[in-house]
Amino acid sequence: MFNKKKLSVLLSITLALSLTAVGCGTKPSATTTDKPAAEVAPIVVKFSHVVTADTPKGKAADKFKELLEQKTAGKMKVEVYPSSQLYGDKEELEQAQAGNVQIIAPSITKLVGLNPKIQYVDLPFLFPDNKAVYKFWESEANKKLMNSFDKFSLKGLAMWPNGFKQFTDNKRPLLTPEDFKGLKFRTQAGKVLEAQFKGLGAGSATIAFGETYAALQQGTVDGQENTFNNIDTQKYQEVQKYLSVTNHGRLDYIVLINNTFFNGLTPDLQKAVLESMAEATKFEIEQAELLDKASLENLKKGGKMQITELTPEQLGVFQKLMEPIYAEFESMISKEVIDAAKNASK
Ligand code: LMR
Repeated sequence: MFNKKKLSVLLSITLALSLTAVGCGTKPSATTTDKPAAEVAPIVVKFSHVVTADTPKGKAADKFKELLEQKTAGKMKVEVYPSSQLYGDKEELEQAQAGNVQIIAPSITKLVGLNPKIQYVDLPFLFPDNKAVYKFWESEANKKLMNSFDKFSLKGLAMWPNGFKQFTDNKRPLLTPEDFKGLKFRTQAGKVLEAQFKGLGAGSATIAFGETYAALQQGTVDGQENTFNNIDTQKYQEVQKYLSVTNHGRLDYIVLINNTFFNGLTPDLQKAVLESMAEATKFEIEQAELLDKASLENLKKGGKMQITELTPEQLGVFQKLMEPIYAEFESMISKEVIDAAKNASK
């Protein structure tokens, strides 16, 4: 017969086991493949992101869920949390390292705290088009950047594009560097973006994506820079009067998986994760290109913002003014990374 003490020990062991089975730790909850799926609780993969579900990142996260659940016949279950529902910018990165969320796809620049070299992405006018960006992603320099997150418990799974950034504000059309003087802009993170606005005579503040609409609405900042699709899906046109088409910088993502979680999966489940990610990545690239155009059209049709496409001459003035940023940050970003990006643009 059990005495009370034995019973409570038994109960706490059962509780601990069942907690593991629903995937609370960093280790996958069920790694066996020999039992029928119905007998084992599925391994839960939480995928947290900050944009809406109808963005390239949002759609690709949903596509990844569909593919992985199908390929593993339900042994793995993906829960996608869009729009900072689960975590904002800073928290999602911390929680992915801790293993409380398994996959995130932060904008590259938000990884600056882990590796300052990734700020290449913010160098003004570095890439002329999408093709150059994709080519850089294939370079050895970028592969090293992807692997550099290993020591922070994160494995780089894929690069996902969003697109080129444009400036918006609610004070006046931004057509020349003088127009930026005295204004304050929201930035994602990092010193390069701070230097970019400083060079234009403007101030800047790092604000989480989920708090940016309110900051623009309340006038905490006058403007921000983002892709057509983020501007459109965040409805910044409700709180920003002017948009300048400048394509001056990139906004792309690195998809990261907690590596303790990944390494704890059986080889066949790891393969399913990688294959699903490769297919979702193809889909993401198509969506990014489609939605970039569709969002610009949408913003034009909406008629709420005055949209100006800057001429090559106007852009040349910005490019010349921002050129010193390259020398200022070369030692931080490294010549290797900058050269690889420039080579990809040739
Ligand atoms: C931003 O903070 O503006 C973007 O990084 C959001 C996103 O994930 O696209």
